[in-house]
Amino acid sequence: MGCAWSAPAKVIVFGEHWVVHGGLALAAAIGLRARAYGSPSESGLWVFSQLYRIGENLMESCSRFCNLLAGFRLVASSYGRSLWPARIRIESDIPVGAGLGSSAATALAAVAAYACVGGLEPGYDVLWRAAFEAEKVVHGNPSGVDNTVALYGGFILYRRGSGFKRVEFRGMRDTRLLIVDSGVSRSTRIAVERFTVRLERLGRLGRRLLETADGIVEEALAALSRGDSVRLGELMDVAHGLLNAMGVSHPVLEEIVWIARREGALGAKLTGAGMGGTAIVLVDLEHASRVKKALELRGFRVYEVELGVPGLQGP
Ligand code: PMV
Repeated sequence: MGCAWSAPAKVIVFGEHWVVHGGLALAAAIGLRARAYGSPSESGLWVFSQLYRIGENLMESCSRFCNLLAGFRLVASSYGRSLWPARIRIESDIPVGAGLGSSAATALAAVAAYACVGGLEPGYDVLWRAAFEAEKVVHGNPSGVDNTVALYGGFILYRRGSGFKRVEFRGMRDTRLLIVDSGVSRSTRIAVERFTVRLERLGRLGRRLLETADGIVEEALAALSRGDSVRLGELMDVAHGLLNAMGVSHPVLEEIVWIARREGALGAKLTGAGMGGTAIVLVDLEHASRVKKALELRGFRVYEVELGVPGLQGP
């Protein structure tokens, strides 16, 4: 078995972007995973990616995997060690640049596999910090929600600086969440910068919008605990409208959201950084296949995945 570790992708159901500025986010781990396989190496710290079809020796230099190098360094320094040789092979089902937290899931699995090759079993604290270091290289100013969900799994209510809370839902058996890949790739860093500039320019109004965004998350939690999917869908529409107003939607995301609503979805919104990436669509069972078909006909890839799956898992 060796050092095989996996971590899940996530969707932010509510609160993306606002969470970078101290707002609340509700996120869920989903059933798409990144996997990392670690084995000993005579020399060099090799990372091989199935997706990019390249290998890189991080002892020499980094170009594609500088994020992983930052994570590996944090693990090593937490134990007062310098980097040790290893071979880490990465595979993933998670679409990249789609707002599903592929980088955080990959970093966590890779860091855990690397620690395992070094004979270590780091606790959650070290793993969280290592994945966060890796996220900083990719995103600039990450909130930490992605690496938190990838580590702990389930449903997470997150506020930057005050940690997270696991939340349990009875579930809404008569509804499905569709994840729709717009096929438009974008940078989280650029989206976060754009949102931040607008928020700062809005000043006092921006702070009021932040309070409104928090209010949406609180209402959503209440709707979820009542199993009120109609209300939840409405709240998704409102959350999307606010994100659009903040400049992080995209014409293709608008198209997805409008097709979904036209075909009878309960609600739809962008998820993650926006400006492309992914949208989520809440549907009741009656409309699920109709909405899915309409989106697929327009060429979008639609995933129907399990929500609230386990976080980091080892061999
Ligand atoms: O699109 P993703 O998966 O990179 O998610 C970004 C979520 C943001 O709230 C926009 C940024 C963050 O670090 O929380």
